[in-house]
Amino acid sequence: MQIINSVQEMQQWCLSHKKAGKTIGLVPTMGYLHNGHLALVKAARKECDIVVVSVFVNPIQFGVGEDFEEYPRDLSHDAGLLEKEQVNAVFAPPVREMYPAGYNTFVEVTGEITQKMCGNSRPGHFKGVTTVVSKLFHICFADRAYFGQKDAQQAMIVDKMVRELNFPLEIIRVPIVREPDGLAMSSRNVYLDADQRKQALVLNQALQAAQQVIQEGERNIEVVRDVMKKKIEQSPDARIDYIEINDARDLSTVERITEPVLLALAVRFGNTRLIDNLLVEV
Ligand code: PAJ
Repeated sequence: MQIINSVQEMQQWCLSHKKAGKTIGLVPTMGYLHNGHLALVKAARKECDIVVVSVFVNPIQFGVGEDFEEYPRDLSHDAGLLEKEQVNAVFAPPVREMYPAGYNTFVEVTGEITQKMCGNSRPGHFKGVTTVVSKLFHICFADRAYFGQKDAQQAMIVDKMVRELNFPLEIIRVPIVREPDGLAMSSRNVYLDADQRKQALVLNQALQAAQQVIQEGERNIEVVRDVMKKKIEQSPDARIDYIEINDARDLSTVERITEPVLLALAVRFGNTRLIDNLLVEV
């Protein structure tokens, strides 16, 4: 397994495989890998000749006062995990390599899809994401790129960007991987103390409770949102950032639940902000 830090070297390495007729699968990550990330890697390993995993904590997708500095990092541990998954190359550039002095080019998806949910509570976040993944797609000549349903809005926005800018690649979505007790795996779970870790179970429980009332016939958005709100409020330290129910195809606003919806939550425990979501069919 190669570990490559330079953009030019990564591009040449991928181009040589591309010219040899190989398909390249890219898994963009910010590292501190867990089984959620590895599910994406395994899917790529199955479907592509060459698998590249990027490990880059992207400063431009973090807002002022967010956790860019504290974000957990452990490249040698990540490399060990990726080696076992038979990854061909890890791309781990320093910040200056991706954003040299004077860097001024950004890719932004606009409209409702980027204004809802995390777009509302983290202004500029998705512009940072679409910019960095555009760069990674070009650096790695990816035929397929793998994104987790854990960040459902991110996957939808990247997919829209790829379609609308005619990027010649396919976005593959992978289901959420959870801990045995239901908490969605996240690099940020390490921030939780033991008590917060227990309380964090309310995210998945709220989604499950909402799904149940929808399956029992409830179609009113406010009623379903209230089910989630009440469940989360059972946890004394939880502070709700958002609870949203939107159209599962494009996050457009729905009046009543008549089509598949995405239930989505962001909740803070102390300084740690966790997100989770569930796609519910009707
Ligand atoms: P990161 O949070 O490291 O996540 C990398 C990828 O792993 C994302 O596509 C995310 O949805 C997926 N993932 C994380 N936890 C998961 C889980 N429990 N189950 C399934 N998939 C999971 O998302 C980012 O990094 C960044 O925004 C990035 C796309 C790399 C751009 O900087």
